[in-house]
Amino acid sequence: MSTQALMNTYGERAITLVKGEGMHLWDDQGRRYLDALSGIAVCALGHCHPAFTQAITEQAQTLVHVSNLYNIQPQEKLAEQLCSQSGMEKVFFSNSGAEANEAAIKIARKYGNEKGIDCPTIITMNGSFHGRTMATLSATGNPKVQQGFEPLVSGFVNAPYNDVEAVKALAEQNNNIVAILVEPVQGEGGVNVPAGDYLNQLRDICDQNDWLLMLDEIQTGNGRTGKYFAFQHNGIKPDVVTTAKGLGNGLPIGACLAQGKAAEILQPGNHGSTFGGNPLACHGASAVVETLVNDKLIENAEAQGQYLLKSFGEALQGNGKVVDIRGLGLMVGIQLNQDCPQLVAKAMEAGLLLNVTAGNTIRLLPPLILSQADADNIVEKVIALINAL
Ligand SMILES: Cc1ncc(COP(=O)(O)O)c(C=O)c1O
Repeated sequence: MSTQALMNTYGERAITLVKGEGMHLWDDQGRRYLDALSGIAVCALGHCHPAFTQAITEQAQTLVHVSNLYNIQPQEKLAEQLCSQSGMEKVFFSNSGAEANEAAIKIARKYGNEKGIDCPTIITMNGSFHGRTMATLSATGNPKVQQGFEPLVSGFVNAPYNDVEAVKALAEQNNNIVAILVEPVQGEGGVNVPAGDYLNQLRDICDQNDWLLMLDEIQTGNGRTGKYFAFQHNGIKPDVVTTAKGLGNGLPIGACLAQGKAAEILQPGNHGSTFGGNPLACHGASAVVETLVNDKLIENAEAQGQYLLKSFGEALQGNGKVVDIRGLGLMVGIQLNQDCPQLVAKAMEAGLLLNVTAGNTIRLLPPLILSQADADNIVEKVIALINAL
């Protein structure tokens, strides 16, 4: 087999992974890797978790797909689980994170149009990432993602991340703003954790201006930061929250949740998806939510995340190559004083899968089943890699 027949969207891929179990993956040469990436924050339960495998096997033997023209029991159950975890009221199911954000963007636009706003505009942040569809790449605050795809979708303005004054200034200047779309922790942008009350202040600004607060929790949701959703660290409620990645543990599913005035905006004929909310994805995701909660994996994410930050902090104190160590739960970033893309291949050679983002930040997104022994193993390997740089 070869990659000849594939579009070259992912560049050269060094290894071929063929099997997974728990925290480990194996390549086609039989080499084992400790997974500190989880398919980029996807496989929260680790690989081939028995409860998840059983759920999708049973559902595959019962009913895989019916149209959204009919009631779908696994979809209704999952929506209730997500509302109960989040305090939100209504859910729209999609097949990916970008599509969940598309639903959020449509809610904001219809909200603005119904208020008689000429050109409903959404504030997004510099360094953000919201997806690769035309609207979500236009929302993304990173010119690299947009380059070559002009003309962009209009109706987005950017503010620096973690800068409340810049958002207030936009509120003064622009009468067309209807919503803020923001990641509680920026993932692709470099694991950027904002000041503690940033989200609370954005909530206040939205309330004062009658805007929607829309949180992109595609990456931070489903327990990864140590709460089911990251906004729960702040004791606030957004109007809209989107999620995907960890929700399906590998099944393609996303969700756009809304409450209050935002929950009733989309009406029959406004939005839809052929596959979104299908029985297989929803039943699998239900098992994910149940396992995250029943096995206390969200608490584990919080505890192991703190342990990783403490272990790295102690071991790398005074290390001249390290600029910053930051994170929330099992989203951990180690920013170096130099670009370090080569660390991905070096880590692979050492039997560890990790990622480098924003050029110079080692990013760790291990499964939420991470044990302290595996955390120690990750720390030891990453420190050796930094020292050898
Ligand atoms: C914060 C955030 N939003 C949106 C997306 C896009 O999700 P997807 O790749 O499932 O479309 C991602 C993916 O990395 C993400 O991290």
